[in-house]
Amino acid sequence: MDKTKGYRLATRVIHDALTPELWEGATLAPIFQCAAHEHETAESLSLAFGGKNNHPVYGRLSNPTNTVLEKKLAALENGKGAIVMGSGMAAVSNTCMALLRAGDNFVSGKSLFMSTYLLFTNVLKKYGITAKLVHTGDSRTLENAIDARTRFIYAETIGNPAMDVPDLENLGRIAKKHGLPLVVDSTLATPYLMNPLGLGADVVIHSTTKYLSGHGNAPGGVVVDGGTFDWNNGKFDDFKPFVDRKGELALLDRIWREHHINFGTTQAPFHSYLTMTGLDTFVLRMERHLSNAMDVAGFLENHPLVASVNYPGLPEHPDHDLALRQFGGKGFGALLTFNLKDEATCFRFIDNLKLIYHLANLGDCKTLVIHPWSTQYLSFSPEARTALGIQPGMIRLSVGIEDVADITEDLAQALEKSVTK
Ligand SMILES: Cc1ncc(COP(=O)(O)O)c(C=O)c1O
Repeated sequence: MDKTKGYRLATRVIHDALTPELWEGATLAPIFQCAAHEHETAESLSLAFGGKNNHPVYGRLSNPTNTVLEKKLAALENGKGAIVMGSGMAAVSNTCMALLRAGDNFVSGKSLFMSTYLLFTNVLKKYGITAKLVHTGDSRTLENAIDARTRFIYAETIGNPAMDVPDLENLGRIAKKHGLPLVVDSTLATPYLMNPLGLGADVVIHSTTKYLSGHGNAPGGVVVDGGTFDWNNGKFDDFKPFVDRKGELALLDRIWREHHINFGTTQAPFHSYLTMTGLDTFVLRMERHLSNAMDVAGFLENHPLVASVNYPGLPEHPDHDLALRQFGGKGFGALLTFNLKDEATCFRFIDNLKLIYHLANLGDCKTLVIHPWSTQYLSFSPEARTALGIQPGMIRLSVGIEDVADITEDLAQALEKSVTK
């Protein structure tokens, strides 16, 4: 990893953590397609179980291919360590479970990805845990929600699909003032737009299923630990055994030891391999994703059949100035939503698309579309949908890296056909 110190992102993302000298000269990490690893002596396996020997033991606990990806992703986010998992939701749920005990609560931005919202509001409730959902822009409400049983603050760095952008430095300040870790899901912003660890976050989560792998072929997730949080601040006495064992990486140790290996949220090594292949073109892909998204947002904004467009890149978006500053002018993400007249118009629009795929994913090379109201949020009450910014006439578009003229032409012809004559 040191070999790439000082190199820039586009170089590091390709070269970080590669050790061809250990892989018969291969410049891609080999896939260790095995469930367990032999130890030559009884002592070696015993030492490994005692954490005193790094020789891998069993596929659910760790895998050498996954370890290479963990090093790459930790480096990409300027973190001290990382664990890759079988999905983004595994990363979200394991992190929450490691931080929370029955009776605890946490404060989260209310703009959340669907499954995260369900985990927070329904599933964790079963364990006596309360998620206090607030508008992250309202610092006073956020601070008032914090009490003696609050364990962390959580936010998405671009909300899916609300498309809002929280002020991370402000959240980081509040978290620090109250002695709490700030955990963020940065799936939509990606390490191309920002490194949340440098802006006040202590832990960064990604669904690697999206832009990091980039080809819609490898479900996965990652938790990156900045190693910045002070677990000895008097609020986290239950972390003592993990601090004693792993110091600044106490949270990662707890996630791994208590949750990841016991809930069995392992990443398949082939998925790590595919994710690393995708990472090689990450910077190139992001450049194209971001410029295409900006063009598509402009096209939709000027289209007479489109009622409104929600994209932080547009100057009228309420978080535009903040996003410009926080993302350093590099772009605004490649997901956007727009509103048509009603649900029936959305259905006709989707049914008439020729190039753009209709499916439940984002962050693929291909442009993807979904009607959230009738799909991901189908089981939600109308009130919950409205609170999350989901409307019957809303389309979510994940802008891909095709020729942008082909994307806008497909949108234009489907919009035209969405109108009943
Ligand atoms: C922001 C965000 N976080 C987490 C997830 C969950 O990721 P996965 O589907 O890999 O579990 C998603 C999935 O769309 C997402 O958009």
